Amino acid sequence: MAVREILKMGDTRLLRVAQPVMAFDTPELQTLLQDLDDTMLAANGAGLAAPQIGVDLQVVVFGSGEVNPRYPDAPVVPYTVLINPVLTPLGDEQEEGWEGCLSVPGLRGVVPRFKRLRYQGLDAKGEPIDRTVEGFHARVVQHECDHLKGVLYPMRVRDFSRFGYTEVLFPGLADADD
Ligand code: NI
Repeated sequence: MAVREILKMGDTRLLRVAQPVMAFDTPELQTLLQDLDDTMLAANGAGLAAPQIGVDLQVVVFGSGEVNPRYPDAPVVPYTVLINPVLTPLGDEQEEGWEGCLSVPGLRGVVPRFKRLRYQGLDAKGEPIDRTVEGFHARVVQHECDHLKGVLYPMRVRDFSRFGYTEVLFPGLADADD
């Protein structure tokens, strides 16, 4: 088990376009997936992308299968390892929702995201994943996959009157210090 340091906004490694994974079932990939899982769990994250721990690969993990204390009102998202993802919005409809990010500690902002989308990619074994999702699940996937393009959620905030400190916006929220 290895909980890795999470890079914070301002670190230029978060701005890179990540490289695709070419080899599966390698010890390096297994170690990366374990580190992402350990680090996300330790931080109560809803998701984590490889660039956030300084690894320049198209790998994200998200979900937990249970209620997340940082997002207590959010629907449960199944634990998912998603590699080399391709996202296809279904329809033009977007919806606004609050987001935070482990690389932007202590802040939350309202971000517009596509309401429904299809995502495809590969799992930890290199087997295909193909899902159609909506709402919070779709939001989490869009947020995490943005990390693979060097995009952090504050870059997508349109209304900065709804961007601020978690402890002020949501007093009483568990783990509001991150
Ligand atoms: Ni993030």
